[in-house]
Amino acid sequence: MTAPKKKLYIKTYGCQMNVYDSTRMADVLAPIGFEAVDSPNGADMVILNTCHIREKAEEKVYSDLGRMRNHKRDKEKAGDGKMLIAVGGCVGQAEGAEIMRQAPYVDIVLGPQSYHKLPDMVQMAYRDGGGVVDLSFPELDKFDNLPAPSAATGRSAFLAVQEGCDKFCTFCVVPYTRGAEYSRRADDVLSEAKALVAAGVMELTLLGQNVNAYHGVGPDGKDWSLARLISALAKIHGLERIRYTTSHPRDMSDDLIALHGYEKKLMPYLNLPVQAGSSNILKRMNRKHTAEEYLSIIERVRAVRPDIALSSDFIVGFPGETDADFNATMALVETVGFAQAFSFKYSQRPGTPAADHAAQVDEDVKQTRLELLQGLLNRQQAAFNRRTVGKRVQVLFDKPGRFEGQLIGKTEYLQSVHVKNAAHLMGQLVDIDITDANNASLTGVLPEQGSDVPQTYIPDHKTTPSEERLHGV
Ligand code: SAH
Ligand code: SF4
Ligand code: F3S
Repeated sequence: MTAPKKKLYIKTYGCQMNVYDSTRMADVLAPIGFEAVDSPNGADMVILNTCHIREKAEEKVYSDLGRMRNHKRDKEKAGDGKMLIAVGGCVGQAEGAEIMRQAPYVDIVLGPQSYHKLPDMVQMAYRDGGGVVDLSFPELDKFDNLPAPSAATGRSAFLAVQEGCDKFCTFCVVPYTRGAEYSRRADDVLSEAKALVAAGVMELTLLGQNVNAYHGVGPDGKDWSLARLISALAKIHGLERIRYTTSHPRDMSDDLIALHGYEKKLMPYLNLPVQAGSSNILKRMNRKHTAEEYLSIIERVRAVRPDIALSSDFIVGFPGETDADFNATMALVETVGFAQAFSFKYSQRPGTPAADHAAQVDEDVKQTRLELLQGLLNRQQAAFNRRTVGKRVQVLFDKPGRFEGQLIGKTEYLQSVHVKNAAHLMGQLVDIDITDANNASLTGVLPEQGSDVPQTYIPDHKTTPSEERLHGV
């Protein structure tokens, strides 16, 4: 008789790299009998895969830990055995053993480079009753020590190709929590991609904290760029869509820009964080580019792929940010026209240079600026979505909707599309006619035979002033 499986609950915070890492942690624990479940209730092991990027993210971890302690107590009281609690991810790396001092019921703390050691750490925690900490940045690639990925469940999967960061933006913890920039060997990436495609994946998102800085060793012994890697991946039969995130403007190389012009499998979507529109602030953020240089990159990308959907990240209220600096951010957003974006209030992170800056911006000023910026970005997103109405777009369906027979899929531009009576299209790439749009998603129908909706969809990237007025802005 085989032993009953042990229940593993993983909660993921933060970026897509953490989402990927969580799947790999589940893969590494499967051979020692753990099976993923979707509730901490009664679980044998709980892993919080944490994020340290802003103060709020970190606070969330500590409040969730309190809840996990209750689950652990309940399980032990019920005579149902031990629940191991592990804290992984970037808070684990940043806080280390301090977590155990604040939350003594935590058994394991590990950094993002130590996942392959989890099985040993679990044995040690059972043997010693907890107190296991591993925050090393090993010489050996953690990826080399992970098992092959488990069978993918959906059509869309993440694949980490690069990790870490050497850029040291003055606001950011990532270089400290993820360590130095590292690129995986191209061969390893290609074989992981082939395994995922063989398991049914049609869309891959290549991940890295600075993914376009990728420079992994290729099969020819030379360093491959991200463009070269994507070209090789595009040859995999059955892989239909390739995306990559997150990029840094400094690493937007000529070959990658050119690839957007001719590689059909490379999706017309680019997340290129700019953070701020004032070159003065960018300099103090140590972003290593000006606002003008950012705009010129955008122009070059649009020259080869006019319909590309652009996304970005913004920080408001960086120390010393004046009204004029903030207005420069608003002006940059107006100039570019984003399809989607993330924006945040600056958060002081311990150990980063900007945290000690004397000219911290007041909380209410940050809040006002965030609301203004998000208002503009939301209007641009809504306008972008509205321009899709009446067009025919390709949608990859991989999620059920809330209603019977409804499916949710993604366009090439990463918009969510809801379609009714479509259950038979699950897992397929299908042409859909878009009938309606709101700020966050689209609604569509299957094309009727012989319908003459135009096939090509070239969104007009500019939100024209008249369009803004038209919609009550
Ligand atoms: N490597 C990416 C971003 C990684 S972090 C890049 O270079 O752009 C994701 C986003 O979190 C950043 O783009 C930034 O907008 C935001 N962020 C990082 N540190 C922050 C801080 N201290 N306060 C507020 N937002 C922050
Ligand atoms: Fe952080 Fe800057 Fe590195 Fe991005 S490039 S991860 S913002 S330090
Ligand atoms: Fe957060 Fe670490 Fe990702 S700090 S954003 S989980 S790299």
